Amino acid sequence: MKNETAIVTGSTNGIGKKIAELFLKEGCKVAICSRNETNVSRTLVEFKEKFGDSVIGAPCDVSDPMAVKLLVDKTIATFGSVRILVANAGVNLIYGPFQYISLDKANSDAKIMIGINLIGVINLVAAALPYMLKQEYGRIITLAGGGADRPVENMSIYSASKGGVLAFTKCLAEEFKKNENDIKINSFFPGMINTNLYKTAQVIEAWKDKKTHEREMELVKKYVMTDIEKSCGTVIPYALPTCNKKR
Ligand SMILES: NC(=O)c1ccc[n+]([C@@H]2O[C@H](COP(=O)([O-])OP(=O)(O)OC[C@H]3O[C@@H](n4cnc5c(N)ncnc54)[C@H](OP(=O)(O)O)[C@@H]3O)[C@@H](O)[C@H]2O)c1
Repeated sequence: MKNETAIVTGSTNGIGKKIAELFLKEGCKVAICSRNETNVSRTLVEFKEKFGDSVIGAPCDVSDPMAVKLLVDKTIATFGSVRILVANAGVNLIYGPFQYISLDKANSDAKIMIGINLIGVINLVAAALPYMLKQEYGRIITLAGGGADRPVENMSIYSASKGGVLAFTKCLAEEFKKNENDIKINSFFPGMINTNLYKTAQVIEAWKDKKTHEREMELVKKYVMTDIEKSCGTVIPYALPTCNKKR
């Protein structure tokens, strides 16, 4: 990936951080971001030690279009281009059956989750696409997730946001097919990865007490989770110029 330049959003933790690290190891220049300045600084120090000037970063909330535009501009100003987007930033705020969620809570959680998980993806693609069209090249990877393509229980709002991401990705892929430019978009289903996503989701206590949930999660972590390095490594072929066929 020596001639490649990428933005990976939500890259101070979990899957985004691992993808950024794997890209950097392959020689790619990478711009990282998250909402929290301290997290960005900590990750930059860690990456700069290993990868020097190949990494830059900035605090950026992907739900804010101006912040996303600034990140895209900064990346192009520093690296000269942006050839790869990994629209990874995502959150899940609540875990449990929808019937326990009040109107107020459903409304406020939906605004945040859809604002980050879906509108955040749309913001990033919209901000970078004019540059990609000009350079006649781009590789875009979005993050799907539980419930995007089939029903799953207990994450209905999160799943709705991810269903939206998948629909957006498929529709853009259809549009790009007719385009002369070499721009490809794919959606990545990483499998279940043991990250903060599972710690930050608030379990609905009227449905399940914390201890039972934690016991069950320990079993899930032991038997169901996928290895983060193996999973994230499968993204690389889709970020390369050779990604021209449906796999
Ligand atoms: N873990 C899984 O099993 C799994 C499965 C399928 C799909 N996914 C998807 O994979 C993606 C990454 O999840 P993860 O499991 O790695 O979660 P994670 O460990 O919680 O990491 C999320 C990252 O995104 C950042 N972030 C959150 N909101 C943001 C925003 N508004 N703007 C910019 N950055 C933001 C976080 O940093 P700050 O808090 O500092 O902002 C953090 O760096 C998500 O889209 C998730 O839905 C995960």
